[in-house]
Amino acid sequence: MGARPEVVRHRTRDLLSAAAAARLLTALIDAQAARGEAHVVLTGGSMGSAILASLGDSAGLDAVAWDRVSLWWGDERFLPDGHPDRNETQNRLALLERLPLDPTRVHAVAPQGSDAGRTAEDAAADYTRQLASAAAPGEPSPLFDVVLLGVGPDGHIASLFPGRPELDATRHSAVAVHDAPKPPPTRVSLTFRALQHAREVWFIVSGSDKADAVARGVRGDDVHRTPAAHVRGEMRTLWLVDEGAAARLTGH
Ligand code: 6PG
Repeated sequence: MGARPEVVRHRTRDLLSAAAAARLLTALIDAQAARGEAHVVLTGGSMGSAILASLGDSAGLDAVAWDRVSLWWGDERFLPDGHPDRNETQNRLALLERLPLDPTRVHAVAPQGSDAGRTAEDAAADYTRQLASAAAPGEPSPLFDVVLLGVGPDGHIASLFPGRPELDATRHSAVAVHDAPKPPPTRVSLTFRALQHAREVWFIVSGSDKADAVARGVRGDDVHRTPAAHVRGEMRTLWLVDEGAAARLTGH
């Protein structure tokens, strides 16, 4: 079932990005205080990199033991290593390349053309193995401290798009996606099973073009129509939105 959605509104996109970054910084610090490490799932898209860029401007950046942060991706565009459209590439440029991360804890999806990325299916299978190897015994994936998710105007999250068969791939942790409506067409995505294995899920959404999707996501909707409505954290589900994205919300 997961935690009931909570909405936090910010006046502007920049305030949303800065506030989400501050929230993430605190969440990482708290996770490490409690458990010695932190597992975070990053998101692609413009908000994903905006939050990392805001984090990079934070005076508290060094309060996190970055060598004990495990980074994962909610989805990846299936492109060659270093391609500018890869979420990993964009996130590294936004901040990650400047952090003292432990490379063994940075879990990128295999790039197209690598040994593990012969096909998107191979890359998804490899990622499933990576997730399982970092999980508690018997679990398919780590219990993520925070899963960050951007949301598309159609209500997609990660690379789980409305009406697509991947929405029903509940036996897997990661799947290949072909002919995605958002370019590039070929992707690898975590499934609902993995995305929901999280203490907290945070949706970070900016812009009036997302207002309908946000309203359906917060209110609840059929999973095949609004994938974002189907992901909740075990302890907390946050919708972090600017005023444009909140335009169709009532009572929040
Ligand atoms: C991707 C993202 C995708 C993104 C949403 C929102 O690979 O494109 O994972 O799910 O988060 O489309 O993107 P924006 O934040 O840029 O609106």
